[in-house]
Amino acid sequence: MKYGHFDDQRREYVITNPRTPWPWINYLGNEDFFSLVSNTGGGYSFYKDAKFRRITRYRYNNVPMDSGGKYFYINDGESVWSPGWKPCKTELDSYECRHGMNYTTIKGVKNGVEAEVLYFVPLKTWAEVQKLTLRNTTGEVKKLKIFSFVEWCLWNAASDMENFQRNFSTGEVEIEDSVIYHKTEYKERRNHYAYYSVNEPISGFDTDRETFFGLYNGFDEPQTVLEGAPRNSVAHGWSPVASHYVEVELQPGETKELVYVLGYVENEEDDKWESKNIINKTKAKATIAKFDSAEKVDAALAELRAYWDKLLNVFTLDSGDEKLDRMVNIWNQYQCMITFCFSRSASFFESGIGRGMGFRDSNQDLVGFVHQIPERARERIIDIASTQFSDGGCYHQYQPLTKKGNNEIGQGFNDDPMWLIFGTISYIKESGDFSILDEPVPFDNEAGTEVSLFHHLTVSFNHIVNNLGPHGLPLSGRADWNDCLNLNCFSNDPNESFQTTENKTEGSKAESLMIAGLFVVYGRDYVELCQKTGNSIEAERAQHHIDSMVESVITDGWDGDWFIRAYDYYGRKVGSKENEESKIFIESNGWCTMAGIGLQEGLVAKALNSVKERLDSEHGIVLNNPPFTKYYIEYGEISTYPPGYKENAGVFCHNNPWIMIGETVQGRGDRAWEYFRKICPSYLEEISDLHRTEPYVYSQMIAGKDAFLPGEAKNSWLTGTASWNYYAITQYILGIRPDYNGLMINPCIPSEWTGFKITRQFRGASYEIEVKNPNGVMKGVASLKIDGKIIEGNIIPLMPEGGTYSVEAVMV
Ligand code: BGC
Ligand code: NOJ
Repeated sequence: MKYGHFDDQRREYVITNPRTPWPWINYLGNEDFFSLVSNTGGGYSFYKDAKFRRITRYRYNNVPMDSGGKYFYINDGESVWSPGWKPCKTELDSYECRHGMNYTTIKGVKNGVEAEVLYFVPLKTWAEVQKLTLRNTTGEVKKLKIFSFVEWCLWNAASDMENFQRNFSTGEVEIEDSVIYHKTEYKERRNHYAYYSVNEPISGFDTDRETFFGLYNGFDEPQTVLEGAPRNSVAHGWSPVASHYVEVELQPGETKELVYVLGYVENEEDDKWESKNIINKTKAKATIAKFDSAEKVDAALAELRAYWDKLLNVFTLDSGDEKLDRMVNIWNQYQCMITFCFSRSASFFESGIGRGMGFRDSNQDLVGFVHQIPERARERIIDIASTQFSDGGCYHQYQPLTKKGNNEIGQGFNDDPMWLIFGTISYIKESGDFSILDEPVPFDNEAGTEVSLFHHLTVSFNHIVNNLGPHGLPLSGRADWNDCLNLNCFSNDPNESFQTTENKTEGSKAESLMIAGLFVVYGRDYVELCQKTGNSIEAERAQHHIDSMVESVITDGWDGDWFIRAYDYYGRKVGSKENEESKIFIESNGWCTMAGIGLQEGLVAKALNSVKERLDSEHGIVLNNPPFTKYYIEYGEISTYPPGYKENAGVFCHNNPWIMIGETVQGRGDRAWEYFRKICPSYLEEISDLHRTEPYVYSQMIAGKDAFLPGEAKNSWLTGTASWNYYAITQYILGIRPDYNGLMINPCIPSEWTGFKITRQFRGASYEIEVKNPNGVMKGVASLKIDGKIIEGNIIPLMPEGGTYSVEAVMV
């Protein structure tokens, strides 16, 4: 069953039934000020950091689901309703939510009144703008009482949900004209406040939650709204909220637009006050003035749309398959921007409290985003590298507000360093900007420790070389990419974290075949980079280490039909036919096949065939098989999940593209495509009842074949799946791959495809590429022409900037 449809023309997903199987959300803002908004108006806002600067409150995992948001209540004399159905849940005569590129509109119709709310964060603005459009479609005069509503968070989202003995006494607000200001803790150590305005004189307001709702009422029945009368309450402690009350009279056919601004301000220390205890409102007023009419708001939305037109024009595909085109051209790229902004911090599955920016996550995320705004990827690479230690080790996460490594999560995840090489090289290949390598970058953000970014790549590479185990394979540390394969943890205390507890590190023999493959893939890239930058001695040294790693993998990492996953603490095989459970894992087979280890000898094909046979399923490739059915203390968290979920034999979508790319190394486009299609959300729209999460974005996990309910997805939006699938489809299946000196054209497609067209902007020029597949092959370009002229090899050389060039590639 479907709950809506795609509107590709407008780049929107249109939800027509508010009772989606899970809140289907969108993100507003793409730089500093952000909001999450669900299809019924639920969600919250924050400035830069979902933990430290939470602006409005949200209740995760609540009853009912998705409680709290930016709500509008309409009392029309006959009924009380909300345009997004929730929170009132009054049956609407019609409902529609359109999630677009960083904006959302929600429209409800009741008793002949149409109410549409547009939510977005204008470019370069520290505020969310909401435009409420009311239209009377009847022949009678309509008198409407409109109540807005947001609930302030007391800034730190963690203590806001914890420290009630203090929180209930700190809340402070100011009300001036039509603006409600939230200034809790402003007089002491904060230099920031928030505000909520409307561009219309108000006839009342409320700022005290209990007064607005009534102590025992839910979001669906605020007593002031039911009574049609605000109480003009001024919050003193307890829970400050902001609700404007506006009376609107609409003549038959009349439309009225109200503009609300929910913003955030920071003031200089010596400029905080207008007078004693009265906050300096200058900046808030300036922002409000920028959006004080519907025309100004419409113009700002048009700018945002134009911004997205530009971003999405960098890569456009015309494949003839609308489900594929809409993912590649719109939604997958959009999701890559979102994961770039948020890493794994704030979604409807990530509370925004526990996790900041991940070292490995953010490096991978930027690879799917770098073609959109290379300068932002550049800045991100420097931020990430600045949290690295001088021995190449890394903080696993850092806080977006401070950009400092997060001590609570710590370090010692031995895959982390290699991802910096991946991120940096992807940036250089996209932008051609080698100067990033000379950027001075500190260790652990300590001034005075700066070395070049290139040096950071060297210590990243060396971190692997310096941490090899008994088989010459990389020691796994706390975990490799798989946070739940905790080979040194040995935890029997439920109060310990699997990620941060290491009970047995000394003398550990735990080695990772995933890191081995990763090292070979990005180590080779490092070698090439060294050669390009004239460091031939370093290139040689690095190549030597890669060669021995390949040897070690072949000698001690091959199990006969697939690559083993690891060696455990004791030096016993993990992911081998010798094991009783989890005989085979996806990660090592993905990475070692991507690295092409043993390609000539047939190992790649064999490993991929084993994956097909043992891990593939109707809903995607599961992580391991057979799943763990009991707790293995020497493996850690992976064996805590019930079979079929998350890292224990779930379809962990992030790693499926590794197999797709492995298949392209082997030249099997049919297989790569089959895997791609299985987990690609636009192809799953019809099974939304089962899949549950949004049909326009990837989810981290789809329950695997051994789960209670195979096919049910969880953890949508913030997942490395976005970047990896975009990377796999564009660079390996469609095969348009940025390289140092041009664009490589190397498709690996299903044999039944006859071709496709792509427009790619690259280094200032535009390439209109047509790939033809007259003989129904899967891989291999026989001839390449640019503007009719034949080119040797499969790389289109860089053409003069500003021009448009037509490229024709004919497959073998
Ligand atoms: C999850 C992992 C995640 C880890 C760290 C685990 O519970 O299963 O997917 O990476 O926590 O947050
Ligand atoms: C989610 C984490 O964010 C990511 O870093 C990790 O690689 C995967 N889970 C697998 O455990």
